[in-house]
Amino acid sequence: MNETIKTIMERRSIRSFKQEQIENADVELIVEAGLRAANAMNRQTWHFTVVQNWRLLSDLSQAVASVMAETGLPSLVERAESPAFSCFHHAPTVVFLSSDKTVYSIADCANAAQNMCVAASSLGLGSCYIASFAQAFKTEQGRKLLEAFHLPEGFEPVFSVALGYADGDLPSLKERERKIDYIR
Ligand SMILES: Cc1cc2nc3c(=O)[nH]c(=O)nc-3n(C[C@H](O)[C@H](O)[C@H](O)COP(=O)(O)O)c2cc1C
Repeated sequence: MNETIKTIMERRSIRSFKQEQIENADVELIVEAGLRAANAMNRQTWHFTVVQNWRLLSDLSQAVASVMAETGLPSLVERAESPAFSCFHHAPTVVFLSSDKTVYSIADCANAAQNMCVAASSLGLGSCYIASFAQAFKTEQGRKLLEAFHLPEGFEPVFSVALGYADGDLPSLKERERKIDYIR
């Protein structure tokens, strides 16, 4: 198996990170890999925001927790109230992908996120693709926090990639169903 296929096969979502920050050079390489993603008509309808500020990540996570708690669903309330809750799994770096909401922008942002996860894996780093944080922006507190992003007009974060050194063993593969037809 060549190295690229091997990296794709071995990537896993990591949900436990060491607190140690990753190297700037790695962050830059991962973001560069995100920028190289296929994107519709090369319009690059994304904006990358690299956040390494614990306070901002923790406040965003708290805003998500308050939305989860408000649902009243016991499983969500229990997770939200856990002192260990972090929708970013306590990763030291989170790269947010913001969309300009044009027709292919979600696909552009998704491709960039996946490229970054694979790039992180190739560098021996853990990554987790995360969308649940977007609930934070349903709250006033969350919308206020968004001001710190200084996003261009009309952009809104849709996905993020948590990055860091994995703490613990690589999770086992989540099996994929063979949802495939070949028409020849
Ligand atoms: C659009 C999207 C949103 C996701 N959101 C979350 C999330 O909010 N939190 C999380 O822990 N994982 C999230 N994931 C990761 C998936 O749960 C994970 O990719 C899936 O369970 C398969 O596991 P694997 O990545 O280890 O192969 C998301 C993945 C995608 C593509």
